[in-house]
Amino acid sequence: MEVSEAIGIRRSIRRYKKEDIPTEYVDKIIQAGQLAPSAGNLQGREFVIVRDTATKEKLSEAALKQRFVRDVPVCIVVCTNLPRTKSKYGPRADLYVVQDTAASVMNMMLQAVDLGLGTCWVGAFEESRVSEILQLPGGIRPVAIIPVGVPDEVPDMPERLGAQIVHYERW
Ligand SMILES: Cc1cc2nc3c(=O)[nH]c(=O)nc-3n(C[C@H](O)[C@H](O)[C@H](O)COP(=O)(O)O)c2cc1C
Repeated sequence: MEVSEAIGIRRSIRRYKKEDIPTEYVDKIIQAGQLAPSAGNLQGREFVIVRDTATKEKLSEAALKQRFVRDVPVCIVVCTNLPRTKSKYGPRADLYVVQDTAASVMNMMLQAVDLGLGTCWVGAFEESRVSEILQLPGGIRPVAIIPVGVPDEVPDMPERLGAQIVHYERW
């Protein structure tokens, strides 16, 4: 699949089939996340792969009861690792690690499309609860929960703002 096609057809999927996905697919998606750029190549991000049903149930509760978080075979929780990047970049690291994780998430979502899988970027969750559920150490913050599974819907593309947010040469 061409990258431009994957970009075009990717949608946030909130309904999934009750089908498992092979570990090799998960590995490939994680590898795509690892290959994303990062500030100073310090890779200020961590990936927690969750297949356990009880843990997904808890994550779903922490994510304001978004049920599809529970109903997928796999959730990948992408976290920032601030200490590693801060050691080199000081205060700029606060923004860098968020960008590092976002770049990974997009790579992973597009890789999932190429594998015929669906994802959704879930950012609405109680951070402290997710940290506790996953037993994240200090300095590691969960940024996005990415449910991954076989899509059971084909959503229309929500409208984009288009030309009004594009500026040439100056604002
Ligand atoms: C930072 C961020 C947080 C998001 N959080 C959620 C969420 O908690 N639940 C959800 O269903 N979608 C969430 N989304 C997905 C957006 O709603 C979705 O990307 C947007 O409506 C555009 O639709 P599309 O992804 O199909 O193009 C989030 C997206 C981003 C980038």
